[in-house]
Amino acid sequence: MSMNINWYPGHMKKTRESIEKNLSLVDVVFELIDARIPYSSQNPIIDGIVGNKPRIIILNKADLADSNSNKMWQEYYIKKGVSSILFDALSGKGVDKLLSLANEVTLEKRQSYEKRGVINRPIRAMIIGIPNVGKSTLINTLSGKKGTKTGNRPGITRTNQWIKIRGSLELLDTPGILWPKFEEEIVGLNLAFTGAIKDEILDRETLALKLIEVLIRTSSDLMVKRYDIDIKGKSTIQVMESIGERRGCIIRGGEIDYTKVSNIILDEFRKGIIGKITLEQPENR
Ligand code: G4P
Repeated sequence: MSMNINWYPGHMKKTRESIEKNLSLVDVVFELIDARIPYSSQNPIIDGIVGNKPRIIILNKADLADSNSNKMWQEYYIKKGVSSILFDALSGKGVDKLLSLANEVTLEKRQSYEKRGVINRPIRAMIIGIPNVGKSTLINTLSGKKGTKTGNRPGITRTNQWIKIRGSLELLDTPGILWPKFEEEIVGLNLAFTGAIKDEILDRETLALKLIEVLIRTSSDLMVKRYDIDIKGKSTIQVMESIGERRGCIIRGGEIDYTKVSNIILDEFRKGIIGKITLEQPENR
């Protein structure tokens, strides 16, 4: 799935308004971010939109992220007093914890309903996040249904439906789609590395080179192991060439097929095949 949209100011305004409208219908917000890039995948505008409404930060794709970093990010959110949870929307790992957390953060709300004699009122939730972070997957996992795919186009109007989840929880079937933030170059790169924005900011070869540069710095052992290469004293491009040679990415005349090797590196990184890698650590934040 690619993100074939441009976030013009008009789009952003419309999106914001539609999210705000839907937010008024729910008791709790599930904010999805990517555990590999918790900072880059979070849109700061969300604070202003959600306000005081209970919120749970879901560190999704935790299965692709480094487990030590996962723990550190959780501690970071605990220190900030924000409820968070490690999640894998594909397998559904974390669902029970999410539901009990949702009950916890809405306790006051539920008590106030009870006091007013309103019984059996469901707790309503909505999912918010940038494109490709796993919103549809989470909705499908929570609802036990397949095939709910909402387009990433802003401003789509559809009739909202409530999906009954276990217990007394109901989920809005239309997620709030936030635009990614592009202000910092590294944020744009992180989004492109993980596939949140599909190769739009750079051509794939430059992107793959940038990724190799980051991997040399942060996870060289994993890369060396995966591709069985020696990287000592090599430049980024030489590392790419070594990987190309190993993988038989050679064109006529014995030259490296840079397109092919770039595709391999990006694809294997995105699928977690190079290893479980987190690109942002909380201490830098
Ligand atoms: P969205 O609605 O927020 O736009 O995201 P969506 O659910 O479509 O998920 C985007 C991609 O991420 C999908 O891959 C999906 O399978 C994958 N995904 C979602 N949650 C998780 C998770 O917790 N762990 C892992 N490993 N993957 C997850 P896809 O269908 O292959 O799409 P694409 O990668 O080709 O875009």
